[in-house]
Amino acid sequence: MKEEVIGLRGIHKFYGEGDARLHVLKGIDASVREGEFVAIVGASGSGKTTLLNILGCLDRPTEGQYLLNGEDVSRFSDDRLSEIRNRRLGFVFQSFNLIPQLSVLENVEVPLFYSRMPRAARLAKSRELIDAVGLGPRLHHRPAQLSGGECQRVAIARALVNDPVLLLADEPTGNLDTRTGAEILALIRDLHAQGRTILLITHDPGVAAQAERRIRIGDGRILEEVEAA
Ligand SMILES: Nc1ncnc2c1ncn2[C@@H]1O[C@H](COP(=O)(O)OP(=O)(O)O)[C@@H](O)[C@H]1O
Ligand SMILES: [Mg+2]
Repeated sequence: MKEEVIGLRGIHKFYGEGDARLHVLKGIDASVREGEFVAIVGASGSGKTTLLNILGCLDRPTEGQYLLNGEDVSRFSDDRLSEIRNRRLGFVFQSFNLIPQLSVLENVEVPLFYSRMPRAARLAKSRELIDAVGLGPRLHHRPAQLSGGECQRVAIARALVNDPVLLLADEPTGNLDTRTGAEILALIRDLHAQGRTILLITHDPGVAAQAERRIRIGDGRILEEVEAA
């Protein structure tokens, strides 16, 4: 059996205090192993973003353990969490989140500024990933000169440049037309075929169906887990 990359053990999340206290995650237990492609699917308000924020080390659970490569990060300080984000995780968002003033090459290079990699190696690594997502001829373009699908390819290259243990994708096709969205999902499936560990969050059952396994959540609980045929 492959190593567990992510282990969630009895995760609860509350927002607010007193009368305004809201119980949003009500005991989530889940596991993602190295090389898996897992989708978390649920309707609006089910707690997906709350869970993603915890998985992405942007927030902490109120109760429970979050094991990342076997290490419980649920009580880490903000500084240690941001170090984990920069070094061990890759993020892809619905809205691409590229830096408009920077070229494709510079956007992809950004996460490597946190490493001690020399400039020549940073550039070589960035170019390699830009080639891998099919944007070799667009190195010096800025985001405004690219289509939405191309922007998402840049975001995917940027997310992978640090060799993250996990790629976290939050509604990665949410701002794309159907055809472009299908191309991005095909790229994500290729990454999985190459051995990447991927966790995708979506409200769209059609998108979730692309994953190897889907975890359906509702009202802060896991409703079912389904393996792809
Ligand atoms: N920062 C917050 N403070 C208080 N309530 C929040 C906060 N973020 C989300 N919620 C509430 O938590 C519930 C789940 O929200 P969310 O995790 O965004 O769900 P989803 O992403 O599945 O739509 C909703 O009822 C939402 O209003
Ligand atoms: Mg959400």
